[in-house]
Amino acid sequence: MSSINYSEKIPNNVNLAEDRTLQRALEQWQPNFLHWWADMGPEGSQNFDVYLRTAISVDPQGWAQFGYVKMPDYRWGIFLNPKEEGRKIHFGEHLGENAWQEVPGEHRANLRRIIVTQGDTEPASVEQQRHLGLTAPSLYDLRNLFQVNVEEGRHLWAMVYLLHRYFGRDGREEAEALLERRSGDEDNPRILGAFNEKTPDWLSFYMFTYFTDRDGKFQLAALAESGFDPLARTTKFMLTEEAHHMFVGESGVARVIQRTCEVMNQLKTDDPAQVRAAGVIDLPTIQRYLNFHYSVTIDLFGADQSSNAATFYTSGLKGRYEEGKRTDDHRLKGETYRILDVQGGQLVEKEVPMLNALNEVLRDDFIKDSMAGVARWNKVIEKAGLPFRLTVPHKAFHRRIGTLAGVHVTPEGRVVSQAEWEAHRDEWLPSAEDRAFVGSLMGRVVEPGKFANWIAPPVMGINRQPIDFEYVRFN
Ligand SMILES: [Fe+2]
Ligand SMILES: [Fe+2]
Repeated sequence: MSSINYSEKIPNNVNLAEDRTLQRALEQWQPNFLHWWADMGPEGSQNFDVYLRTAISVDPQGWAQFGYVKMPDYRWGIFLNPKEEGRKIHFGEHLGENAWQEVPGEHRANLRRIIVTQGDTEPASVEQQRHLGLTAPSLYDLRNLFQVNVEEGRHLWAMVYLLHRYFGRDGREEAEALLERRSGDEDNPRILGAFNEKTPDWLSFYMFTYFTDRDGKFQLAALAESGFDPLARTTKFMLTEEAHHMFVGESGVARVIQRTCEVMNQLKTDDPAQVRAAGVIDLPTIQRYLNFHYSVTIDLFGADQSSNAATFYTSGLKGRYEEGKRTDDHRLKGETYRILDVQGGQLVEKEVPMLNALNEVLRDDFIKDSMAGVARWNKVIEKAGLPFRLTVPHKAFHRRIGTLAGVHVTPEGRVVSQAEWEAHRDEWLPSAEDRAFVGSLMGRVVEPGKFANWIAPPVMGINRQPIDFEYVRFN
């Protein structure tokens, strides 16, 4: 069951051939997906041979095979983790009942909404990143970008399989609509805010894969707990792919920082203007990019109080991060959670029913996880002997969703007037000038083993290949 059948038009480990109707429906969606990829996938890359990994089984050991692939020929398919016999729902009001193998009628609309919202983020990020190949800082980075892109394409397949297999006609319609919305489009945008922002340069890309792909990790981890077994199984496998995306982000930012620190030490300066004149990104600009991506990403977890979040949990559709490892009653009735509120223009803590605060619970788990990586970035600066430290901004900084959307808050967590916010905005978030500067550094480096001046080489290559390996062949 865990090995993948690649002899079929759509590689899969779900015995697709046994369900002719479903197979036909997905085979009709497949060319539309490929059209979308040709239109909205990585620009000008159709003919490149890219050293990509492809899933060959869903076993934790050795699921991946590496080799040169032209991206439009990548074998996107449907891979679910193996079924756990006798799996039970382990939270909410159905706790202890058998996990669902089909969609329960009363939860159909909510489940569809959850799957569509997740599915929409996958093609969105490919659209956001589609121009980056033109300015890659190295072949190594170009290959990593493309790996992330093909896997986001596969994540779309994962959600589309669920829609086609379990939701009949409206599932098929939703699957079409996933190919029709466009990131940043005024008339038909992607569903969630962060997925309509631009990813115009590689610093943005690394921040995005560090923070926003990590939002993906937490959403998928919560769905991997789902009582709807096919959703749990497919998101478990998606999580194994997501780990690499976050690695690309964390190591990418670390390499940018490392290179900046080298130059700062060579020039013996911390003056951003001098650092920039040497063609690297000054640390305060990196901090502003961090502030932007962090704040936009924590909005993705939704409103701090949400009756939908309570419903999704109580009905067994979406659990908490690592639900299975928690030792409470997994029903949470009567439990409370502290969230931030605004009273008289000040931030105050307030206790609310935990069920309504589950978005906040997941956001706080995310925050803990992201801070760990920021601490590792600071180690790079510390090792270079420099006093600067990156910080994660206050949770209330630059929020657009929930209670905190109504106030202006500094990165330190002080509520300020709109005038004060406007006056300091460019110290806290990337200014047009910052973006123009970072953009000016972006130039294509494609000689094997060479790296753009603003980024250090990685410590290791991909799949134990040398750093100067020809990760992409242009033909
Ligand atoms: Fe994804
Ligand atoms: Fe991802």
